Amino acid sequence: MKIENSKWKNNPSTIGIQFLSSRSSASPPNMAAAIFLLALSLALPSASSTVAFSPKDNILIVCGANSLVNLPDGRIFKTDMGSAGYLQAKDDVHVSTEPGKGLPSPLCQTARIFQSEATYSFHLTGAGWHWIRLHFYPMNSTEHDLKTAMFSVSTDDVVLLHRFSIDANQTSSYVVKEYLLNVTQPQINLKFAPVSNSFAFINAIELVSAPDYLIPDSGSSLFPVQAYEGLNRFNYQFVYRLNVGGPPITSQNDTLGRLWENDGSYIKNKAMAANVSVPANVVKFPEDFPALIAPASVYSSAVRMADAETQQPNFNITWEFKADPNFDHMVRLHFCDIVSKSLNDLYFNVYINGKMAISGLDLSSLTNGLAVPYYKDIVVNSTLMSDSLTVQIGPMKQDTGSVNAILNGVEVLRMSSSVNSLDGEFGVDGKKAGMINRGTVAAVGFTMMFGAFVGLGAMVIKWHKRPQDWQKRNSFSSWLLPVHAGDTSFMSGSKTSLGSHKSGMYSTTFGLGRYFSFAEIQEATKNFDSNGVIGVGGFGNVYLGTIDEGTQVAIKRGNPHSEQGITEFQTEIQMLSKLRHRHLVSLIGYCDENSEMILVYEYMSNGPFRDHIYGKNLPPLSWKQRLEICIGSARGLHYLHTGTAQGIIHRDVKTTNILLDDNLVAKVADFGLSKDAAIGQGHVSTAVKGSFGYLDPEYFRRQQLTEKSDVYSFGVVLLEALCARPALNPQLPREQVNLAEWAMQWKRKGLLAKIIDPHLQGSINPESLKKFAEAAEKCLAEHGVDRPSMGDVLWNLEYALQLQEAFTEGKSEEESEESPEAMAASPTVSSPLPAADPAVETREPEGETRGNDLADIQNTEHSGTNMFAQFAHLEGR
Ligand SMILES: *[C@@H]1O[C@H](CO)[C@@H](O)[C@H](O)[C@H]1NC(C)=O
Ligand SMILES: *[C@@H]1O[C@H](CO)[C@@H](O)[C@H](O)[C@H]1NC(C)=O
Repeated sequence: MKIENSKWKNNPSTIGIQFLSSRSSASPPNMAAAIFLLALSLALPSASSTVAFSPKDNILIVCGANSLVNLPDGRIFKTDMGSAGYLQAKDDVHVSTEPGKGLPSPLCQTARIFQSEATYSFHLTGAGWHWIRLHFYPMNSTEHDLKTAMFSVSTDDVVLLHRFSIDANQTSSYVVKEYLLNVTQPQINLKFAPVSNSFAFINAIELVSAPDYLIPDSGSSLFPVQAYEGLNRFNYQFVYRLNVGGPPITSQNDTLGRLWENDGSYIKNKAMAANVSVPANVVKFPEDFPALIAPASVYSSAVRMADAETQQPNFNITWEFKADPNFDHMVRLHFCDIVSKSLNDLYFNVYINGKMAISGLDLSSLTNGLAVPYYKDIVVNSTLMSDSLTVQIGPMKQDTGSVNAILNGVEVLRMSSSVNSLDGEFGVDGKKAGMINRGTVAAVGFTMMFGAFVGLGAMVIKWHKRPQDWQKRNSFSSWLLPVHAGDTSFMSGSKTSLGSHKSGMYSTTFGLGRYFSFAEIQEATKNFDSNGVIGVGGFGNVYLGTIDEGTQVAIKRGNPHSEQGITEFQTEIQMLSKLRHRHLVSLIGYCDENSEMILVYEYMSNGPFRDHIYGKNLPPLSWKQRLEICIGSARGLHYLHTGTAQGIIHRDVKTTNILLDDNLVAKVADFGLSKDAAIGQGHVSTAVKGSFGYLDPEYFRRQQLTEKSDVYSFGVVLLEALCARPALNPQLPREQVNLAEWAMQWKRKGLLAKIIDPHLQGSINPESLKKFAEAAEKCLAEHGVDRPSMGDVLWNLEYALQLQEAFTEGKSEEESEESPEAMAASPTVSSPLPAADPAVETREPEGETRGNDLADIQNTEHSGTNMFAQFAHLEGR
């Protein structure tokens, strides 16, 4: 029989391939359904590819057995007896036990016992990462009590076990030790050395090639948090591997034959955690994701905060592992957002050993989707270790989004020491681990250690030794520096979608504004006092600060761990440096000292528009105020679309991105996702960005970005302002979930007035409402070409405001009982009107104001005569 493991080839894991082409039938009435399909199982794979892994080396042996052993997972273990020729031992014995006596594995039926040193030699066909799995089961044997055996195991280079014995306290006495070794020699010698007066034993050995990408070269260090290079110069022992919130996964279910425990016995505060899972085929592996990093079933289950929405949300979920504090550890965390109903809703913190490991983890931004896997490797230096290692997840203090946190999987790996040992202090040559003699392996580690204590000094060292791809790493200074260096070309190496515009990036006339020192920023924010956090995003936190003895500003501090954040920051700088407008939030300055990336904006004291419509119990805004806010934001968007040469598409228009200042003047914020229209036009992007509930169905289907996508989103904003409810509310009955769909049904029935904010009932002019609703409906047209330009929308909103003002004027006149007739009379008739502005009359859908000085646009605002001109003209229609 051919000793080849069919499992490796026949048990592929399936990768669901996105994206939306298969969903082109979504029409507006289906939007809610489409969104849920997207949220839950966009998975409907329009194509699928399979990932199989054929290890070059696949040596599986069962020790002391007379014949092959078949495992339930399909793998076949050869015997080490006879002609196999693996073993060189002087006095070995093999023992066996009766089959079928409740053995934990068929591999536990036999063992080989060594009274003196013995070596297995294996020939390999390829260098690189190899698994070594050693199976130990202290079976019953009349001559030997295997539980008392004490021995060491090593290869020619690496100590795997030092004075090991099966611990009597172990809950399961079947122990599998698993290693991942970076092998460079064509032969591996596995030496078993009993301590004097004892003996060694082994039941089975696996030596199997592993995919190269299993250990990438770079990760991140825990403290200080920064990039960590050189991971693949170490050897590893897998100490824990958990499928968090899901069932154990056996070698049957993992193409690489790994075992994943359930996390139940490691989680500390069980009552505060809830398991959540989706079918494994919902998980969408991106094409460039190393699919065998973990099986889909790891990503399809998670632990989340129990009742996070309703209960006191101020807690962490904690997992605790026993660990050896003499070793550095690598913690691999697996995430997959299977809990969110919409993108950009979940941000949370991850701590290891009480230290911030990932601040504001924003899976949406990192993966551009829900149910898309993500993992992160974090190195925990032994100086930060105690007898235990804890992983914690907890919510962020934030204004928007859910209060929740998730974890899907954890692996804890011990890293080989300076003397290349994975157990005990000695190396194979008997050298003892020391701080200085860390050899080549630890040149990096040394820098890291240095970094922890010397801080800035170490950064300088790192700076001079930066690797070629340094600009992709998580340091904001790395992309800001060229401002000073006058070199903008480095941007081409980064993954920004705006790379093609790099040359103009920092050379605009507006520049980045005023320069702040880090000390100034610290003072302004009371050293980033967490009580001053007013917002959270993919980039990091936004703090309220005070500069110049009293001027309040919003200070956005980049989260140096978020690569997506860097991209968004770059976009935002690029956009903001080009744009100045009364209805766009403006940039005051920046700080890039100490590798920080900090932007300082004007402070919008009244916060997001949404907070004033619902959810925060703020005093309700009048209809006139809402109209003025909608008009202000429409102006901002109109300027974006037409005020620069190419035009700019915001891409994330929503009520949380419209901010209000002291006087409730609206300003559009958050240009993190913006795109030059020139890039967007006709450009089919690979990832639909934006927020659910606001997404243009056409963009959603065709992924073709135009200004009209912003117009659609703005239509949803108008409906929110009118109906005072979220764009998407999954808690409502199905037909009501999607605001745009639901409100338009009422509009078509002519009954929109029935679902408006109760606070507006009676105070809203039906004509104003009608005009407003028409504007919203046009914005929400199925096809972009049928939607008005922002200029048209603006104009209609101004008209709605005029109607409202005339109405309230009439009303107050009525109240003052001066002229009851005035109510009945059309306000136009009683108004002294100048002639209609011909420019208004002939306004083209794409706005002839394109390229106009922004002053022109601003001048039209609240200029009474002009408005009445439009008003008169409309009345005449
Ligand atoms: C593991 O595989 C078995 C057999 O293929 C299957 O019945 C079982 O549901 C799988 N378990 C998981 C957790 O995927
Ligand atoms: C969560 O854990 C971290 C680190 O241990 C700690 O700093 C933070 O205060 C904890 N948060 C809560 C809400 O307990």
